[in-house]
Amino acid sequence: MSDNFLRVNVCELYCAFNLYMYTEKHRNQYHFSPPSDWMNDPNGMVYYDGEYHLFYQYYPDGTKWGPMHWGHAVSKDLMHWEHLPLALEPDALGYIFSGSVVVDWKNSSGFGTEEQVPMIAIFTHHHPKRKEVGMGDHEVQSLAYSIDRGRTWTKYADNPVITNTNKLFDFRDPKVFWYEKMERWIMVLAAKDRIHIYCSVDLKNWLFESEWGMQYGERKGVWECPDLFPLPVVGYDEEKWVMLLSINPGGPNGGSGTQYFVGDFDGNKFTLDSSFASRIENGKGEWLDFGPDSYAGVTWSDIPKQDGRRLFLAWMSNWLYGEKVPTDIWRSAMTQVKELSLHKLEDQYQLRASFVKELGQIESDLVADIAPRVATENQVLVEGLTSGLYRLQIEMDCEPGTTFGLKLHNEQDEMMVIGFDANTNNYFIDRSKSGLIDCHEDFAKMTFAPISYEHNTIKWDILVDSASIEVIADDGQLQMSSIYFANAPLSSISLVVGEGKVEIVEGKATVLQSVW
Ligand code: FRU
Repeated sequence: MSDNFLRVNVCELYCAFNLYMYTEKHRNQYHFSPPSDWMNDPNGMVYYDGEYHLFYQYYPDGTKWGPMHWGHAVSKDLMHWEHLPLALEPDALGYIFSGSVVVDWKNSSGFGTEEQVPMIAIFTHHHPKRKEVGMGDHEVQSLAYSIDRGRTWTKYADNPVITNTNKLFDFRDPKVFWYEKMERWIMVLAAKDRIHIYCSVDLKNWLFESEWGMQYGERKGVWECPDLFPLPVVGYDEEKWVMLLSINPGGPNGGSGTQYFVGDFDGNKFTLDSSFASRIENGKGEWLDFGPDSYAGVTWSDIPKQDGRRLFLAWMSNWLYGEKVPTDIWRSAMTQVKELSLHKLEDQYQLRASFVKELGQIESDLVADIAPRVATENQVLVEGLTSGLYRLQIEMDCEPGTTFGLKLHNEQDEMMVIGFDANTNNYFIDRSKSGLIDCHEDFAKMTFAPISYEHNTIKWDILVDSASIEVIADDGQLQMSSIYFANAPLSSISLVVGEGKVEIVEGKATVLQSVW
């Protein structure tokens, strides 16, 4: 009996009896990760009948990328997840790459009935053999449907629904939404370094509408996992459309990254806002997250109108080292769910993020207040956060020329440092002493986030889990997500003042509970 056979069957046993331990070293305690094996992009996030669905790129037979399936989990509260059996498996047309799921409320596809509304998955079929022989048509778009709340899926007999007639080497990751004004479905698709927009009335027959993006944004890598959605502009009677686009390589701190664009969509084509265009000239990207570990993120479909939030989730890793990180039976986790909102500062649009209010469910009563003070030297702010699971909310001020960091550390002096350099007006994350850093030569590199907006104080909202930190700065104006692999929980928080003077205006650390 091969080791692999044994391992697979142990995992199946775990699945069958719901015996996940989720106590392994480096296992995040309140972020989604698969029970075992390899995971990358989140797919098909959709809300239906009281459940938030999360599908994901999954290779169930190993801890490195392989023939892609769709894994599946559901949650009623965005925090606690129930693992479900595999949703989609590879077939004669190839692996099941990234895509989206919509609820076909009017049964436009005919896959359901009026009583039994179908859920439709629209995904890329990727044919590895055709890719190998260089035919150029190895990526096509296909459908599957479910009429039992996503529990079982049937692939459409006439797949693919979009063939790759132009033989585009990269032609994938369909994101579909219902465009109410014209009563039709719209698909955005990544086609190498641009976006293709298609429309359909029944999800089966698609018409090419337009191409976008030839001269915009960072273009040094392949564009992947697009998303396009409207957002109201906070404080204005105005709505704009946001395009999200992942790129790999070419991210702001190396490897994978996610850009965003703001403009208008008329049902046929996306047009960049003119003020936004000037910000992204000459191959410059506008980044949703400056950390190294937020990729392939898209938003939930079908969030009820009365809720109205635009909820976002990304793969919390990077193609540079995702397959080499030091975890044993599984690889990688998702970010926390974040709510996106659109703001306008003078004539510039800015996409912001915040942690969702559902996080409150796992906040415990254990809160350490951080007293206001002015500091010119290093000091311990909080100790005894023994689980290493907490939310740190802190507001600070500092003199010009100051450099300082918040050090999240353990007794072995392993640390994640989140800092501000007033000389260069950059936030940064330093994980060079965070424990296991050898998975890739760039893993220990500093991550920089240039601050492009006016700010008086510095406000950080930080989630610390067993193997990740997510920083949301200045009321959502900037994000940095970064994974780490320490040998013990980061149970203390210290202030490290390099030069200058730091004033802590207010702060607190709230202990969070495991969801597993
Ligand atoms: C992004 C990506 C997608 C593709 C999938 C394959 O991380 O490369 O473009 O569909 O992963 O697993």
